[in-house]
Amino acid sequence: MAVQINPSILSADFARLAEEAKAVEGADWLHVDVMDNHFVPNLTLGVPVVESLARAADTPLDCHLMIEDPDRWAPQYVEAGASSVTFHVEAAAAPVRLAREIRAKGARASMALKPATPVEPYEDLLPELDMLLIMTVEPGFGGQAFLDIMLPKIRRTRELIGRHGLQLWLQVDGGVSASTIERCADAGADVFVAGSAVYGAEDPAEAVRALRAQAEK
Ligand code: DX5
Ligand code: ZN
Repeated sequence: MAVQINPSILSADFARLAEEAKAVEGADWLHVDVMDNHFVPNLTLGVPVVESLARAADTPLDCHLMIEDPDRWAPQYVEAGASSVTFHVEAAAAPVRLAREIRAKGARASMALKPATPVEPYEDLLPELDMLLIMTVEPGFGGQAFLDIMLPKIRRTRELIGRHGLQLWLQVDGGVSASTIERCADAGADVFVAGSAVYGAEDPAEAVRALRAQAEK
């Protein structure tokens, strides 16, 4: 199975973002967490930083928007240079229209589900998406413990995708590390976000290689 490893720069040194982006050679996408202090109780970065990072990084950007009103903001992240934009379904007013707009602007459209949000009500939306993100922690902070209780949801979602005959990436985000990535892969995830497990490691590029090897087992 082809897998993607997406280091999250939330766990990087924000004063050296360009350097940190280049420190994860071999990564497929660079995961950029946008938080607005409303949808989640934390504040990170916005459009201007994404614009600069898109120019500085060798890796395409995967922007995870943990913000209110993604209908208004998500298209601006595509224009800023993001190759993939994820909005939270809990915050979107019109998820189908938004996914279509992101795709029409040339980026990969992705929708995220918080731990308590079930996938089943959104089954019919899946063909509108390139990727579905299942949060394996409550969004807002890096370094939290992986929620094992999300494994059945990952499994059910992979089954749903198969039943519909869709080509959809299934991303997991939160607490993904050497000790949890195999369980996620086994449940059907194929895109793995890892913040502290990559940037907390002495050699981030080596951590990416090790995570990939484990996910591909
Ligand atoms: C949390 C963010 C994650 C975070 C993951 O809300 O969406 O992307 O950076 O960090 P780790 O891998 O440390 O749990
Ligand atoms: Zn994230």
